[in-house]
Amino acid sequence: MLSYRHAFHAGNHADILKHTALVCCLDYMTKKDVPLLYVDSHAGAGAYQLDTGYASQNREWEEGYARLLSYANGSPERRVSAPLSYTPSAAVPEALRAYLEAIAAFRARPGAESSYPGSPALALSRLRAHDRAVFFELHPSDCALLLKLCSEEPRARVRREDGFSGLKAVLPPASKRALCLVDPSYELASDYEGAQRALREALKRFATGSFLLWYPLLERAEAKAFPALLRSEAEAAGRPWLDARLWLRVNAPGERGMAGSGIIAVNPPFALVTALGECLPYLAAALSPATGGWSLDTSSA
Ligand SMILES: C[S@@+](CC[C@H](N)C(=O)[O-])C[C@H]1O[C@@H](n2cnc3c(N)ncnc32)[C@H](O)[C@@H]1O
Repeated sequence: MLSYRHAFHAGNHADILKHTALVCCLDYMTKKDVPLLYVDSHAGAGAYQLDTGYASQNREWEEGYARLLSYANGSPERRVSAPLSYTPSAAVPEALRAYLEAIAAFRARPGAESSYPGSPALALSRLRAHDRAVFFELHPSDCALLLKLCSEEPRARVRREDGFSGLKAVLPPASKRALCLVDPSYELASDYEGAQRALREALKRFATGSFLLWYPLLERAEAKAFPALLRSEAEAAGRPWLDARLWLRVNAPGERGMAGSGIIAVNPPFALVTALGECLPYLAAALSPATGGWSLDTSSA
């Protein structure tokens, strides 16, 4: 049953972490001329309107994207009602600047002034003419929105299919270069096992591909065990990993709600660890100065 709609959460703290890592990886991996395949196993609608519909109900973006902008723009009291425009500043870490500028460029398009780009829109903004993207999205309404976003996009294929099993089917690409985002909602307990299996099978087919797997920080047994399981999959395949976490608070045992989130990168591009080492403390200070925190571990540490 598909009840999750990412529009409710667009631009929240989890999107910031995930999309900053994504833009950083894409920018690094598109430096080489060889074509890149980008795969999004759980793509969502592609882009979201913040001022209408689902995103305007809980307004999670106010505590995420708007708060970050306010901080980056130098508003000392970090008002959530900051204007949603970005003033480039050298004080902002380079990878966050790239992320904020990618969003600003997306929002500069006619009719997109109050929107937030999802991972497909961000990826398409970084890919070159000879790169390709495959987006898996099962929800009929979000898949229709994604198809519309990509209607004049020759680089992208949208598939209304299961992304867990679809991922391995599109690997390895002929160019032998790919970045794959695995970003389920984890509202179904089976998503944990699905993501772990998808990584294992993808690494079997394409051990040198780069993978980004997002996960929530929750007081649930399967969520707590999950990052270690993903690290083990990378280690079993003999591949390097990076585990970056950003939290807004620390949940007490049994407390409900997502305190933060993490990203496991397998075969991370060289630049990612340095970039996240700069971005994570900045993000914790911007989004939750009193109770926020971060961590960054790598397989070689
Ligand atoms: C967290 S959202 C994706 C957000 C998107 N990656 C972004 O960063 O903008 C997860 C999406 O996966 C879709 N979904 C759920 N199960 C799926 C499956 N097995 N295969 C593909 N898509 C699925 C949901 O409908 C939802 O839109």
